[in-house]
Amino acid sequence: MNEHVSLSVPADEPPARQNERTNSRKVFIKTYGCQMNVYDSGRMTDALAGDGYVATEEMGEADLILLNTCHIREKASDKVYSALGRLRDMKKARAAEGKELMIGVTGCVAQAEGEEILRRAPAVDVVIGPQTYHRLPEALKRARAGNRVVDTEYAVEDKFEHLPVTEKAKIRARGVTAFLTVQEGCDKFCTFCVVPYTRGSEVSRPVQQILDEARRLVDAGVREITLLGQNVNAWRSEGEKGEWSLGDLLYRLAEIPGLARLRYTTSHPRDMDDKLIEAHRDLRALMPYLHLPVQSGSDRILKAMNRRHTAAEYLRLVERIRTVRPDIAMSGDFIVGFPGETDQDFEDTLRIVEDVHYAQAFSFKYSTRPGTPGADLSDQVPEDVKAERLERLQALLLKQQADFAKSCVGKVIDLLLEKPGRMPGQVIGRSPWLQSVNVDAKTSQIGDIVKVRIIGTGPNSLFAEPAESLIGP
Ligand code: SAH
Ligand code: SF4
Ligand code: F3S
Repeated sequence: MNEHVSLSVPADEPPARQNERTNSRKVFIKTYGCQMNVYDSGRMTDALAGDGYVATEEMGEADLILLNTCHIREKASDKVYSALGRLRDMKKARAAEGKELMIGVTGCVAQAEGEEILRRAPAVDVVIGPQTYHRLPEALKRARAGNRVVDTEYAVEDKFEHLPVTEKAKIRARGVTAFLTVQEGCDKFCTFCVVPYTRGSEVSRPVQQILDEARRLVDAGVREITLLGQNVNAWRSEGEKGEWSLGDLLYRLAEIPGLARLRYTTSHPRDMDDKLIEAHRDLRALMPYLHLPVQSGSDRILKAMNRRHTAAEYLRLVERIRTVRPDIAMSGDFIVGFPGETDQDFEDTLRIVEDVHYAQAFSFKYSTRPGTPGADLSDQVPEDVKAERLERLQALLLKQQADFAKSCVGKVIDLLLEKPGRMPGQVIGRSPWLQSVNVDAKTSQIGDIVKVRIIGTGPNSLFAEPAESLIGP
């Protein structure tokens, strides 16, 4: 999971139909944070559909603006308050025209700060946590009647049971790849992290609910599903024969006809069980890409972070996975400058990166988060030291990323065609290793898996030419 995903939910209907329904209200959702927030934004749109809301990509034409927020680092939270400042002016201008503009804050900042948001940002009408967004329509009704609402309880009911299923047309508009949240919350309590406080304890969605949702996605044309969870591989539920772990679920999902590709994120090294590793060996649909954050290569720091494994254990795990799936691309998250991190500890992090060879990675300066145990530690690392370490680490990770991309040149791969490219006649697809690949193809082929030969690399994507015949859909 990373903080770089920041996209608004695409309009759910083609413009022609939106114009026909001039009476409908429009919602604009700005999504910050991880993929789980992206999924939640989609489901919030579903929740609001019953009240006549359609999603818009134009903030200026929205009657309701939701900021679906992230609390993971200080910068992420700060963004929310600066955005709310701008929205206050917009709301005033709208009121002067006698028009309504409602503003809501959802997601992890909502959960963490609750009432405080209403106090600091008078323009906000509703504050709703990640566990209660199925109650959005009700909260908006109360706010319209003059009562600003904060709803950050951990709901006793299962929100998924209360959300309307996503309409087929909406799934289609969202594309041929989809996220499916299977697990929420975290019980790991890494000492730097707010997630256990903002998302609560680990909860797994039941098998049947997941299978139903997956089938609905596939019926609407989805070819690739990414299972999501703050600790997705901690997912456990009652299956057909006793308790299932994520590996069992993947075997079952791989049987769904038409579902070509499966991925899952984010995993904790402690929860990579044998079944999940076997799934990487056996399932053709399970893509050879694994995001397995290690955070640090120093045992001392790993202990202080409460990661509950050593660097050597992590390396052994990567080796086991590579033994069963040699072409797997590894991805990771790193934090530099955790309190007490010495030059030697940092060198250990560089060493583990050298040992693993990451195809992709996200790295961050440690950010002190209120309420986490890390915030109370006295030996905080100075900003300039953090900045220098981050620069060195990122240079190494970028080099590995470029090396991996170069190693793909000349290979013939299966490419899932996803969306139109920037140039006419071009389509962007995903490689098995999650790279964006540009290729000449027709937009009518979107959703197909085609054989292409990688012929070059760009800064953030690869270039390919068609090779041989089509396979799929
Ligand atoms: N559940 C996932 C991570 C969720 S948060 C896991 O356990 O790996 C995504 C990433 O943000 C983390 O992996 C970590 O690298 C980073 N992160 C979390 N808290 C942070 C903090 N206080 N400062 C800097 N980076 C942080
Ligand atoms: Fe945060 Fe650690 Fe839980 Fe990941 S495992 S969400 S880093 S507490
Ligand atoms: Fe951010 Fe919450 Fe995701 S804190 S990373 S949006 S779980």
